[in-house]
Amino acid sequence: MDIQFLKESFQEQFGKDSNPRVFFSPGRINIIGEHTDYNLGFVCPAAIDKGIYVAIQPNGTDTVNLFAKDQKDEPNTYSFKISSAELPSLRWAKYIFGATKETAGNNVNVQGYNALVTGDLPDGAGLSSSAALVCAFLFALDTLFGNADTDRFKLARMGQAVEHKYLGLKCGIMDQFASLHGKKDNLILLDCRSLDYEYIPINTQGYRLVMLNTCVKHALGTEYNDRRQSCENGVAALEKAYPGIGSLRDATIAQIDSVKDSLSETDYRRSRYIIQEDDRVLQVRSALRDGNMQKLGDILYAGHDGESNWFEISCSESDYIVRIAKECGVTGARQMGGGFGGCVINLVKEQLYDSYIETVQKRFLDKFGHNLLVYPISIGQGTNQLL
Ligand code: GLA
Repeated sequence: MDIQFLKESFQEQFGKDSNPRVFFSPGRINIIGEHTDYNLGFVCPAAIDKGIYVAIQPNGTDTVNLFAKDQKDEPNTYSFKISSAELPSLRWAKYIFGATKETAGNNVNVQGYNALVTGDLPDGAGLSSSAALVCAFLFALDTLFGNADTDRFKLARMGQAVEHKYLGLKCGIMDQFASLHGKKDNLILLDCRSLDYEYIPINTQGYRLVMLNTCVKHALGTEYNDRRQSCENGVAALEKAYPGIGSLRDATIAQIDSVKDSLSETDYRRSRYIIQEDDRVLQVRSALRDGNMQKLGDILYAGHDGESNWFEISCSESDYIVRIAKECGVTGARQMGGGFGGCVINLVKEQLYDSYIETVQKRFLDKFGHNLLVYPISIGQGTNQLL
C-alpha cells in the first residue's frame, strides 16, 4: 500500500491541510482449529501481509466522519456524533461505531475524528477482514486518545465485544487476537481459555501455502451462532453426566459418545467434531515441530472432513476444491475460517504447484462458471502504526 497516496486521498476527502496518522491491522489465516476458539480450545492462526489501513485525525468536534474508500455495496461515507446511541444502518460503519463505543467504554476520552478506510483484503473470504477493521480502529483510537498503555489482550477482547454487541455474531477471540499479535513468519498457537500463546516459526521448505478463494461470500450470522448453540447443548449434556466439564475443550470422545442419546444427532456430531478438532491443533503443533509436512497435510484433510461431514460448515465449492487437491496429490487442503465459503488453504509441494493451480482453476471454472482466486500467503506483523 502506498502510504503517501493514502495520505493524499485523506487530504482530498477531509481538506488539503490535514495530516493524518496511518494504522494497519492484518487479516489472518488459520492452519487448523475452526470453531474451537469459543469452545475455549486451541487455534493455530497467523497474521498475513494483507489487511486494513486507516488514515485518521482528530477533528476538534464531537462528530466522527468516515470514508470507506473501497466500499461498493453500500454508501461509502457515514457520520455520527460521539454521544450517539443509534447503531448505524450501514454494515461497515457498525464495526467502526462499535470500536469507538468500546474504546470510550474503556475510559478513553474519545473525541471527534475523520477517518479514511482502505485495504487489500477481500471481505467475506474467511480472512477476517472485519477483525482487521475493528482492530485497526481500536488500536488507532487507543493511540490517539488513550494513555499510550495499549494492552493488546484487552484490545482483542474489545474487538470480540464489538462483534457480539454491534453485529450480533457470537464469535470467539481468534481473529482479533491474531490480527493484534501477528509476528512475521510465525504461526500463533493460542490457548483460547488462558490466552497463553506461543509463536511457531513456519518452515515449509519445499512446500507452498496457498489460499484458493471460492468467491462464495459469507457474512457470518445465524448459521455461525447456531453452531455455537449446538456446542453449548453438548456442554450442557456433558455437565449432567460429568460435573465440572465447563467446555468441549475439557471433554473426551468417550465422554461425548456416552451422552449421545441425550443429544440431537446434529448437536452430538457438532460437539464431537470440536473435540477432535482441538486434538488436531495439538497434533499440528507436533507435526510443525518435527517438520513433518505429510502429517500436517493429513491433518488438514481430516479437518476438512470434520467441517464438511460433522460440523456442516462447508459448501459444494470448497468440497470440490479439496477433492481436486486430493486427486492431484496435494499434501493437504481444507476450507478455512468461519465457514460456508471463503477460502480453501492448501499445502502444496513446490514441484506440483503450477500444475495443481492450473488444474484446479480450470476444473472449478468448468463446474461453477466463475473463477477462483489464487492468493499465495505471506505471514506478516500484527496491528501497528505506519505513520
Ligand atoms: C470466525 C470467528 C472466529 C472463529 C472462526 C472459526 O472467523 O470470528 O472467532 O470462530 O470463525 O474458527
